[in-house]
Amino acid sequence: MKIAHLSDLHIGQNAARVAAARQLVESLRVEDVDLVVVSGDVTHRGRWSEFWEFSRIMAPIVGKIVTVPGNHDRLGDDVGEALMPGFRVHARAHGAAWVVRFNSTGPHNRRWLDGHGLLTQGDVQDIEQALRAGPRGAARLLVMHHHPLPLPDEHVMEKLVTRLGWPNARELARGPELIEKLRFSCDAVLHGHRHVPAETAPFPGEPLRVFNGGSSTELLRCRILRWTGGEFESRWLEGRSIPEASPRSAAADLVELPGADGQLLPC
Ligand SMILES: [Fe+2]
Repeated sequence: MKIAHLSDLHIGQNAARVAAARQLVESLRVEDVDLVVVSGDVTHRGRWSEFWEFSRIMAPIVGKIVTVPGNHDRLGDDVGEALMPGFRVHARAHGAAWVVRFNSTGPHNRRWLDGHGLLTQGDVQDIEQALRAGPRGAARLLVMHHHPLPLPDEHVMEKLVTRLGWPNARELARGPELIEKLRFSCDAVLHGHRHVPAETAPFPGEPLRVFNGGSSTELLRCRILRWTGGEFESRWLEGRSIPEASPRSAAADLVELPGADGQLLPC
């Protein structure tokens, strides 16, 4: 089973983001991956126009996409519910993978500066329970936006707020506790938020991996994870140039709303 991990597309920020996303989708179409996980900050300002642009870009790989919202998706019109409707924790089988999605955003993310995530005690319990409900032998994935373990600050503003003791750039407050609890019930945690990619094995010798996808549209590449039956192998897939435009098919005008099972919406 091949799973692609994209994150922090920030569609709407500039034309380069859109062009990069289209090239990545072309690579994923050719690679014929089984599942595409997008771990938040799909949009830059949380606008519906940006969400629909994302839907149009993803049309060639319709039906394979799983999304969670990031803090940027909660700005503006707040498209968080469209990316993951309802409860904060969802679980569903996708082929050989048992995918648990966690919405790590909170109401404070409506404000631009307050980009940090929210992970309550109840969330930790719900995530743990959802992962344990997976079928035996399945690859168990947790997808969320915010980072559960500490990562280096990436720019001056993050360094400043961390120095001031503010939570804005920090890992999820209960993140390390969550990772400890997932030790034997999860094979990979896929997140984003920080735009520089990272990979961690929090318990050396054990299969659990924590992958930060970074910003796929800045990197113009994304990770491909292959489940070998006991652990994930990872490699990078570069975006590729797009062939000359071909006539749009009728199917390309229907896009599955990410997270809404089987629901097709015109875009
Ligand atoms: Fe981001």
